[in-house]
Amino acid sequence: MTGPAFTPAAGRIVLCRAGFEGEAAGELGTRAAAAQIAGFARASAGSGIASFELHDPAERSTLTQATCWRDLIFARTAWDLRGRVQNLPARDRVAPLLEALHMLQLRVSALQLEHADSDAGRELSGLARALTAPLCGALRCAGILHPEAAGTLHVLLTAGDTAWLCAAAPGAAAPWPGGIPRLRFPSAAPSRSTLKLEEAFLVLMNEDERTRWLQPGMRAVDLGAAPGGWTWQLVRRSIRVAAVDNGPMQPALLDSGLVEHVRADGFRYRPAQPVDWLVCDMVEQPRRIAQLLAQWLAEGRCRRALFNLKLPMKKRREEVQLCLGLLRDALPDIELRARQLYHDREEITVLALSRP
Ligand SMILES: C[S@@+](CC[C@H](N)C(=O)[O-])C[C@H]1O[C@@H](n2cnc3c(N)ncnc32)[C@H](O)[C@@H]1O
Repeated sequence: MTGPAFTPAAGRIVLCRAGFEGEAAGELGTRAAAAQIAGFARASAGSGIASFELHDPAERSTLTQATCWRDLIFARTAWDLRGRVQNLPARDRVAPLLEALHMLQLRVSALQLEHADSDAGRELSGLARALTAPLCGALRCAGILHPEAAGTLHVLLTAGDTAWLCAAAPGAAAPWPGGIPRLRFPSAAPSRSTLKLEEAFLVLMNEDERTRWLQPGMRAVDLGAAPGGWTWQLVRRSIRVAAVDNGPMQPALLDSGLVEHVRADGFRYRPAQPVDWLVCDMVEQPRRIAQLLAQWLAEGRCRRALFNLKLPMKKRREEVQLCLGLLRDALPDIELRARQLYHDREEITVLALSRP
């Protein structure tokens, strides 16, 4: 039987929705190429993991900057890859991990055991939980885990006997394990889609922005609103909503006194006065949605917009770039934040901020 083997590595690793590894790896490769960094992107279909490995480890910090988690669309989180440990024995996985970490000379203030959001990855969740306490204890004793150090060590289990050692500086990766914010479905909400908007507020905006941009008394339009999951998130923040959809809205939402149900075509409807928010979850061709949103923003009909681009096609990254390009052409100063959220399926969510 072969013993544990540690292989140092330098690169980036991201977690994504299973089935989108190609898009996630493509993003890493494109950004690395734009920064003139040599290496190779890797994606194994269905794994929920994509990576980029450097030819020259000296380019590590340039790569980290070029592939910042906040700027990636298909990554739920991103870490620096430092190495892999294989052939971990089931009777003691901690000792070889500790030995590898000694070799890397890492010091961190937090440890997170991770697994991918794939069929194989989810099977490792029990092992990840079980390993956390003993590994934490061992790292503390060894001085690797120390409150005065900075950053987080992410130990990504890819099999029962294999772990990838990854690190992230403070604030450089998603703060949630696996990059997945755990949100509970509110029982009063009319549809599970409500979690998409809640997650978008959490992931695409910081706390200060949420406080300033989601204030009671603001006005919003929700295109494709029925049955009202997104409207519900706005109403819960005391925002008035024109809910545009020919379909039925949840009666309790209409009773709130904050919702006007407009039975109209979302592509034709325009509000009498500019609104603070336009949100849009209509199932339509992404470029039609992008054109509509570009019009609203360019005509000053809304200050901020949050919308879904559905991506049932093969060339998903190309379609996203085309749609974001349409918005940038219409408003050269626009700020766009786009992400495939955990609650997004074959789609991404975009926050568009027009600058006055
Ligand atoms: C995915 S559902 C929206 C779910 C909603 N965001 C929620 O949280 O409950 C899409 C909605 O878009 C509506 N829709 C599609 N095309 C539309 C159009 N042209 N005008 C208005 N609504 C449209 C459909 O009737 C459907 O209710």
